[in-house]
Amino acid sequence: MKITLLVSFLLCYSYCIYITHASPINCLEDQQSLLLQFKNNLTFDPKYSTTLKLWNNSTACCYWRGVRCDNEGHVIALYLIEEELISGGFNNSSSLFSLQHLQELYLSYTNFNSSIPSGFSKLEKLKELDLSNCHFYGTLSNSMSNLTHLTYLDLSQNDLSGAIPNSMSNLTRLTYLDLSHNDLSGAIPSSLFTLPSLEMISLEDNQFSKLDEFFNVSSSILKILDLSTNYLSGPFPISIFQLKSLSHLDLSFNKFNGSLHLDKFFELKNLNFLDISYNKLFLKGNPINVEPSLFRAIILRLASCNLKTFPSFLMNQSTLVFLDLSNNQIQGVLPNWIWKLQSLKKLNISHNLLTELEGPLTNLTYILIVDLHNNKLKGPIPVFLKYATYLDYSMNKFSSTIPQDIGNYVSFTNFISLSNNNFNGSIPSSLCQASRLQLLDLSFNNISGSIPSCLMTMTETLKVLNLRRNSLQGPIPDKFSASCSLQTLNLHGNLLHGPVPMSLAHCSKLEVLDIGTNQFVGQFPCFLQNISTLKVLVLRHNKFHGTLGCSKAKNPWKMIQIVDIAFNNFSGKLPKNYFRTLKKMKDDNDNVEPDIIRSAIYNVYYQDSVTLVSKGQQMELVKILKIFIAIDFSSNHFEGQIPEDLMDLKALYVLNLSNNAFSNEIPSTIGNLKQLESLDLSNNSLVGEIPMQLASLSFLSYLNLSFNHLVGKIPTGTQLQSFQASSFEGNYGLYGSPLTEIPKLPYDPHPQPACGRLACSIDWSFLSVELGFVFGLGIIIGPVMLWKQWRVRYCKLVDKILCWMFSRMYLEYATDRGQTYTVLRW
Ligand SMILES: *[C@@H]1O[C@H](CO)[C@@H](O)[C@H](O)[C@H]1NC(C)=O
Ligand SMILES: *[C@@H]1O[C@H](CO)[C@@H](O)[C@H](O)[C@H]1NC(C)=O
Ligand SMILES: *[C@@H]1O[C@H](CO)[C@@H](O)[C@H](O)[C@H]1NC(C)=O
Ligand SMILES: *[C@@H]1O[C@H](CO)[C@@H](O)[C@H](O)[C@H]1NC(C)=O
Ligand SMILES: *[C@@H]1O[C@H](CO)[C@@H](O)[C@H](O)[C@H]1NC(C)=O
Ligand SMILES: *[C@@H]1O[C@H](CO)[C@@H](O)[C@H](O)[C@H]1NC(C)=O
Ligand SMILES: *[C@@H]1O[C@H](CO)[C@@H](O)[C@H](O)[C@H]1NC(C)=O
Ligand SMILES: *[C@@H]1O[C@H](CO)[C@@H](O)[C@H](O)[C@H]1NC(C)=O
Ligand SMILES: *[C@@H]1O[C@H](CO)[C@@H](O)[C@H](O)[C@H]1NC(C)=O
Ligand SMILES: *[C@@H]1O[C@H](CO)[C@@H](O)[C@H](O)[C@H]1NC(C)=O
Ligand SMILES: *[C@@H]1O[C@H](CO)[C@@H](O)[C@H](O)[C@H]1NC(C)=O
Ligand SMILES: *[C@@H]1O[C@H](CO)[C@@H](O)[C@H](O)[C@H]1NC(C)=O
Repeated sequence: MKITLLVSFLLCYSYCIYITHASPINCLEDQQSLLLQFKNNLTFDPKYSTTLKLWNNSTACCYWRGVRCDNEGHVIALYLIEEELISGGFNNSSSLFSLQHLQELYLSYTNFNSSIPSGFSKLEKLKELDLSNCHFYGTLSNSMSNLTHLTYLDLSQNDLSGAIPNSMSNLTRLTYLDLSHNDLSGAIPSSLFTLPSLEMISLEDNQFSKLDEFFNVSSSILKILDLSTNYLSGPFPISIFQLKSLSHLDLSFNKFNGSLHLDKFFELKNLNFLDISYNKLFLKGNPINVEPSLFRAIILRLASCNLKTFPSFLMNQSTLVFLDLSNNQIQGVLPNWIWKLQSLKKLNISHNLLTELEGPLTNLTYILIVDLHNNKLKGPIPVFLKYATYLDYSMNKFSSTIPQDIGNYVSFTNFISLSNNNFNGSIPSSLCQASRLQLLDLSFNNISGSIPSCLMTMTETLKVLNLRRNSLQGPIPDKFSASCSLQTLNLHGNLLHGPVPMSLAHCSKLEVLDIGTNQFVGQFPCFLQNISTLKVLVLRHNKFHGTLGCSKAKNPWKMIQIVDIAFNNFSGKLPKNYFRTLKKMKDDNDNVEPDIIRSAIYNVYYQDSVTLVSKGQQMELVKILKIFIAIDFSSNHFEGQIPEDLMDLKALYVLNLSNNAFSNEIPSTIGNLKQLESLDLSNNSLVGEIPMQLASLSFLSYLNLSFNHLVGKIPTGTQLQSFQASSFEGNYGLYGSPLTEIPKLPYDPHPQPACGRLACSIDWSFLSVELGFVFGLGIIIGPVMLWKQWRVRYCKLVDKILCWMFSRMYLEYATDRGQTYTVLRW
C-alpha cells in the first residue's frame, strides 16, 4: 500500500513539476511572500535540503520545486518530503495557513517536533493532507473536522495521543485514512465505518482498547482495514462481517477472545488477505459446505489461534501464496495435499504438535520457504523441495542419516536448519553443492565423522556454520576460503582435536567463534587478534597451553564482548596492556538491543547462542545482547598481579578469574567496573585487604572471593554484607560480617588453606594428566619433597586432592622471594 502510494506520488510529483514548467504561470505576490515567510521561519540545513533551499525571489514561486499553482497563480499544492532536518518555527500562526487555496499538502518525513497546529483547519480546500512522520505530538481535537473536502489523510508515524474525535465523521469524502504508528487510545468510533467513501483505514500500532460494534454499513466500500497491534479486547467484532467489500483484514496482535468459526469469513467474498494471528481466539476450523470459488485467500495468517486441526477448506485454495498456521495445537499428520497447493510459496507450520508427514511426497509444487520447526515430526528427513530457498526442520524428532544425495535438492537453498533432532551418521559432502547456502545449522544432533573439508571452502558464501553439540571428530579442515565471509563458526561440544587452522585468518568478518569443549591443542591462536569484527571468542574446555602473549595486533578487537578461555592450560602472567584495546568493553553507554544476525532474506532472524558461566551458574545466552560483556579466564594457570588495565573495561558484566594463581592485592581500581554483576576471584593467592571500592559496585549480585589469603575486616555498612559467608570463606585472615565478627586469634600471617569442604569438586581426568599421578592404587607415587617445586598454580589443585585423600596431612604455605609454595607436613 505504502509503496504503491509512494510510487504514484512520485509519478505525480515529476508530472506536476513538468506541468508547471510546461505552462508558465506568474505566482501571486502574496502567495510568494507567504511561502518565503514559511521558509524563513523554519530551521533547516541547506546541506541536506532538497527543496526549501531552492526557494528564492529569483524565480516566481510557481516554478519552485515542490510548489504547484492554479491558473490564477494561487499555490494549490505543496510537497515537502524528506526534508528531515527541518525543525521549529511551525505553529498556529504560521503563514502556511494563509495559503487558502491549498488542495494538496505533503510534509512527510520532516521533523517539526511540535504539537500539531490546529491551523490546518483553516485550509478548508484541502483534499490531500500527508503529515506522516513529522514528529507531531498532541491530540487530534476537532481541528480536522472543518476539512470536509479531504479525501486523503495520512497522519501516520507521529506521536499523536488521545482519542479519535467524533467530528472525524464530518469527513464524508475521505477515501484513505492512515493514523497508524501513533499513541492514539480509547474507543475506535463506530462512525468511522459509516463514512461512505472510505476505502482504507489503518490504525495499526496504537493503543486503542475498544472497537464499538457498528450497524447499517451495508453500503460501505471499505476494502482495507488494519487494526493490528492495539489492545482491542472482548469477543471478535462480528460487525466486521458486514463490510462486504473487505479484501484486506488485519486484526493481529490484539486481545480479542472467545471462539470463532472460520466459516464466518466466507461471508467476505472479496477477502484475500486475512491476519487474525496472536489474539486469544479459539478458532474452529473445518467448515463443511464451502463453495470453493467464494473465498480466495492469497495471504492467510492464523498463527496462535488455538487451532486443533488443519482447516480442510485450505485444500481448495489454489490462490494461496502465504500460509501461516504457526503456534497452534495442530496434532497428528501433516497432510500431503498441503504440498500440492498450486500457488503456495511460503508455509509456516512451526510450533505445533505434528507427528508425521503424510506420503507420498512426489510431484510437489514449488514452495520456497518451509518452516516446520518445533513440532514432533519423526522419521527420515523430508528433503524433496527442489526450489526451496529456506528450510527449517529444527526442533523435531527427525532421525536417520542425512541423505547422501541431499546435494541434489539444495541448489537454491540459502538457509538450512536441522538442529535439535536426532540425525546421525556423517555430514554428506554433497551438501557442499548448495552453492547459495548462507546458513547451515546442524547443532544438537548425533552427527559423527569428520567435517568435510569442502564445507570450509563454502565459506565464500556461508555466513553461519553451526555444528554445536554433535560427535564430530578429527581436526577442523584447514581450507577456509581466501574470501571467507563467515560470521559465525560454532563447533562447541564435539570431539574435535588438533590446532585451530591458520586459514581461519581469512575470515575477516568473523563475529562469533565458539570452539569450546573440544580437544583442541596448541598455543593461543594469536592470528584471531587481527580479526577486528570478533565479538565472541569461546575457547573454553580445551587443551590450549602457553601464555597469551602475542605480538601486537594489527586490528585489535574493538568489538569483542565475550572472551571465555576458561578450563585450559594457559599460564604465565597476563601481558601488559593486554586489555587496553578492547574498546567495546570500555564503553558503558551502549544501547540495549538484541544483537542478532539477520539472515539476508525473508525477515528471518538467526540468533547466536553461547553458554557462559555467570553468577556461578551455567547459562545459555540465546541472544547475545550487545550489553552482555564478559571475561572468563578461570581454571587456568595464570599468575602474577590482576592487571590494572582490566579495570578500565567499564562495561564488564561478568569477570571470572577463579582457579588460577593470581597473587598480590585486588586492585582498588576495581571500583571502575560499575556494571559488574558477577565477580569470581576464588581459589587464587590474592593477599591484602578487600578494597573499599569493591563495596561501591552496586549491581554486584554474585561475589566469590573464597580461598585466597585475604586479610582484615570485610568493609562494613555495604552490600558486601548481603553475600553469604561462603563468598569469603577460606581466607583465614578475613573477619567481619558475614563471617565471624572478631579476627581469629592468634592472627596467622601464613594461613593454611581451608579444606573444610572435602567435596571440593575435582576434575580427576584433568588432574591426572596434569600431574602425572597414578591413582589406580590410591597411592601417590613421587617424593613428597617434590611438592616444594610446584608453583602455587599447581598446588591449588593439589591441595584439594590431598585434602580429599589424606585428611590427616596438612599443607602450609610458604613465601620465598615473592613466590608462594605449598609445603606438605604431617
Ligand atoms: C535561487 O533558486 C534557484 C532555483 O530556483 C537556484 O538555482 C539558486 O541557487 C537560488 N539562489 C540562492 C541564492 O539560493
Ligand atoms: C522577495 O521580493 C519581494 C518583493 O517582490 C520582497 O518584498 C521580499 O522582501 C523579497 N524577499 C527576499 C527574501 O528577498
Ligand atoms: C509561533 O512561533 C513564532 C516563532 O517561531 C513565535 O514568534 C510566535 O509567537 C508563535 N505563535 C504562537 C501563536 O504560538
Ligand atoms: C493553536 O490554537 C488552538 C486554538 O485555536 C490552541 O488550542 C492550540 O493550543 C494552539 N496550538 C499551538 C501550538 O499554539
Ligand atoms: C514567521 O515569520 C514572520 C516574520 O518573517 C513573523 O512575523 C511570524 O510571526 C512568524 N510566524 C511563525 C509561525 O513563526
Ligand atoms: C523535540 O524537542 C524537545 C525539546 O523541545 C527535545 O528534547 C527533543 O529532543 C526533540 N526531539 C527531536 C526528535 O528532535
Ligand atoms: C471551521 O470553519 C468555520 C467556518 O466554516 C469557522 O468558523 C471555524 O472557526 C472553523 N473551525 C476551526 C476549528 O478552525
Ligand atoms: C462537524 O461535526 C460536529 C459534530 O461532530 C458538528 O458540530 C460540526 O458542525 C461539524 N462541522 C462541519 C463543518 O460539518
Ligand atoms: C439502521 O437503519 C435502519 C433503517 O435503515 C434504522 O431503523 C435503524 O435504527 C438503524 N440502526 C442503527 C443502529 O443505526
Ligand atoms: C474475554 O476477556 C474478558 C476480559 O477482557 C473476560 O471478561 C471474558 O470472560 C473473556 N471471554 C472469554 C470467552 O474468554
Ligand atoms: C475441493 O476440491 C476437490 C477436488 O479438487 C473436491 O473433491 C472437494 O469436494 C473440494 N472440497 C471442498 C471443501 O470444496
Ligand atoms: C507425477 O508426475 C508425473 C509426470 O510429471 C506423472 O507421470 C505421475 O503420474 C505423477 N505422479 C503422481 C503420483 O501424481
